[in-house]
Amino acid sequence: MIKTIGILTSGGDAPGMNAAVVSVARCASVHGIKLVGIKRGYNGVLLKESKFDMSKINGPEDLTAEDWKALEPDITELDLETVLDIADQRGTFLRTARCTEFVNPEYQRKGAENLRKLGIDALVIIGGDGSFRGARALCNQGINCVGIPGTIDNDLGYTEATLGYDTAVNVCVEAVRSIRATSRSHDRPAVVQVMGRHCGDIGMRTAIATGAEMVIVPEMPWNIEDYAARLSELVAKGNTRATLIICENCFEKMADFDWRNFLRENGKTVFDGEDLDAHRLAQLLKYKCDGVEARATVIGYTQRGAQPTAYDSALAFQCGHLAVQLLNKGITNQCIGVRHGEVFNMPIDEALVMKRPFKRELYDLINTL
Ligand code: ADP
Ligand code: F6P
Repeated sequence: MIKTIGILTSGGDAPGMNAAVVSVARCASVHGIKLVGIKRGYNGVLLKESKFDMSKINGPEDLTAEDWKALEPDITELDLETVLDIADQRGTFLRTARCTEFVNPEYQRKGAENLRKLGIDALVIIGGDGSFRGARALCNQGINCVGIPGTIDNDLGYTEATLGYDTAVNVCVEAVRSIRATSRSHDRPAVVQVMGRHCGDIGMRTAIATGAEMVIVPEMPWNIEDYAARLSELVAKGNTRATLIICENCFEKMADFDWRNFLRENGKTVFDGEDLDAHRLAQLLKYKCDGVEARATVIGYTQRGAQPTAYDSALAFQCGHLAVQLLNKGITNQCIGVRHGEVFNMPIDEALVMKRPFKRELYDLINTL
């Protein structure tokens, strides 16, 4: 019988995380379950902000009102009144963090002990695969956990969608449409860098939705000659404002090419230890493609801090609802996902080993059409 659920957001913030918290709060309240918010991901589980001394506490009955007050930087009760207003807020109300110690079993044991002493019977974790590994570790320590996929990257193999991905793609599409308008006005090709960690989904979906002519993804090796040849061909055909979408973490996948010396030979100052980036890539294309004035834009955090789309908000509500249903029925160690457009759940262990299939046909289509 679950009496208190803890909820946290972890990893990069993702649009829809707040809506999922509201959904869990509403469903928990229907079942008479208390909800507490744990701040800054697993940092909150480890009570890192409050530095509260748990050694004198054996269980929730030992905690006084002052103790709860002292714990507030990490753990706070989420009554409906507090939570109802946050569904449409951007970012994550609970804050998030990357808690490096949590990969260490000693800290996982400490975290589980803290949760038990606080009387938190179950935990809802909203995050990506790293956060789910933390959830699995807590499950192994006897804590009931359910994971909700919250990451713009869409890099979880078991699910068709994650909270924030649709919003991030829409932000990128809007940006690329604007960039393409200016590209067209000036006859300038564009290089646009998007996020996604090691997953090219944001880049490919943005490219196909905007008609961008080239995409570079972390799943595929690439070389500068192919992209320069493709751009030269497009320019020769009259397309003087083609767009190259490059995902982050792709620069190290470029085939060997002494780009620093190449740029130096073309009059640029380049430092020895300098890394290749979107702006340097635009310069490489300029000198490789007969002086086209390619310009670069890095979209960055606007992808994470955006207002969630209807899709992400609706998915968040469905995930939050299912999470509470599962915990209330005593079904734990699960993560929620989308399969054939419907929310479903499966064991975290099994989900974490599923590899995301790479959409090779889509990649080829974008780069050749
Ligand atoms: P995401 O959840 O979006 O994949 P991260 O990979 O940054 O983001 O992971 C978020 C947090 O999850 C990490 O900061 C850490 O606290 C926890 N985490 C990541 N990997 C593990 C692991 N192998 N074991 C336990 N906790 C982990
Ligand atoms: O996981 C979301 C994400 O934005 C990734 O796309 C990116 O690789 C990473 O987080 C960036 O993290 P940070 O904001 O901590 O630099």
